[in-house]
Amino acid sequence: MNRALSQVDPEIARAMEQELDRQQNCLVMIPSENYASKAVLQAQGCIMTNKYAEGYPGARWYNGCEQVDTAENLAIERAKELFGADHVNVQPHTGSQANMAAYYALLQPGDRVLSLPLDHGGHLTHGQNSNFSGRYYRFTHYGVDRETEVIDLDVVRRLAHREKPKLISVGYSAYPRAIDFAEWRKIADEVDAYLMADVAHIVGLIAAKEHPDPVPYCDIITSTTHKTLRGPRGAFIMCRREYADAVDRACFPGVQAGPLMHVIAAKAVAFKEAMTDSFRAYQHQIVLNAKALAKALMERGFRLVSGGTDTHLMLVDLRPLNMFGATAADLLEEAGILVNKNSIPFDHVSSALASGIRPGSPAVTTRGMKEPEMEQIAEMMSRVLHDPESESVRKEVLQEVRELCARFPIYEDLTEGHCG
Ligand SMILES: Cc1ncc(COP(=O)(O)O)c(C=O)c1O
Repeated sequence: MNRALSQVDPEIARAMEQELDRQQNCLVMIPSENYASKAVLQAQGCIMTNKYAEGYPGARWYNGCEQVDTAENLAIERAKELFGADHVNVQPHTGSQANMAAYYALLQPGDRVLSLPLDHGGHLTHGQNSNFSGRYYRFTHYGVDRETEVIDLDVVRRLAHREKPKLISVGYSAYPRAIDFAEWRKIADEVDAYLMADVAHIVGLIAAKEHPDPVPYCDIITSTTHKTLRGPRGAFIMCRREYADAVDRACFPGVQAGPLMHVIAAKAVAFKEAMTDSFRAYQHQIVLNAKALAKALMERGFRLVSGGTDTHLMLVDLRPLNMFGATAADLLEEAGILVNKNSIPFDHVSSALASGIRPGSPAVTTRGMKEPEMEQIAEMMSRVLHDPESESVRKEVLQEVRELCARFPIYEDLTEGHCG
């Protein structure tokens, strides 16, 4: 029972050890990834994983829920305080399930929804054909403007008046600009639609007031907990008081059964961490770092979609280099820099190849890196991408990346890739 993981399952223990080594020795520029704190990891690896707790605190289908009730109540109360929300549900296992529950709470199959499509920066769950959302609801998409590459609210307004959607969705996966939720509320009110924000990416910035606040304007807000918020892999939903019952019934029994109580405990820890001054300073630095990286990339000749960023991420258009995003991501990985390929608006190639990459600053900022390191990272990216034939450049950059990573270690007291 109490034998160490390495004794019970050396293959998995070895994979974790090597994963720790990988995370320590590469630059994670994927904007949806981060390093959860040791306290979050400990909570996520705890014995609450053993408990069945269908239902909600004080009203469970199983006995023995006193301690998990404490964890869930703390998570809920902390999230409500952090964001000033009327109601919070912390049970969604993932961002996708939070979105599924949000639609389930407010819509009927076949209802109309207005959203940004995946290839302009939206998410699979915002109406992609291959996703449940596209199958069960009738999505109409707005896009970004071809010239400015920014969402044009006049176009959204016209579409909303024409389509009369029951729900308007705002909040994205690959859109680098700030969202003015007050203006979106006006449009939703004009057509009597629900306004839903999916803040999976920008939630940490919102918590730290580094991005406009959706809470006063949106009926329902979904978010992940593992991206800029830096918590465990998971999600939560905030909503106005009048939708509280519908949201709770949508999460359970609507789309989920037993909640992951160990993850909910870890969400409580993450919300507590997000209330601190150091977290607010961290979010501020994320934005400064993203702007510094964007500027340094543009100075090296890269074209950024919409000309920059207001957030933690940016989209780099690689068409001027005649290179696919997939190629760029592979070349950079060889040099120790992790980015993800990403379609850019009006892309002419498939999303499997993509014409762009989507670098972001959350993970490297967690390591303590600041503007000078962003300049160095931009320089290294530029060297690799402007000289794709040169293996020696990638080798040189890999060495530089290792040295940079050594100066900004992660999990200094972990040796095994888990919290023991
Ligand atoms: C805007 C947005 N919503 C939802 C999700 C889904 O989150 P998950 O991967 O946890 O299902 C993502 C994840 O990338 C996202 O970017």
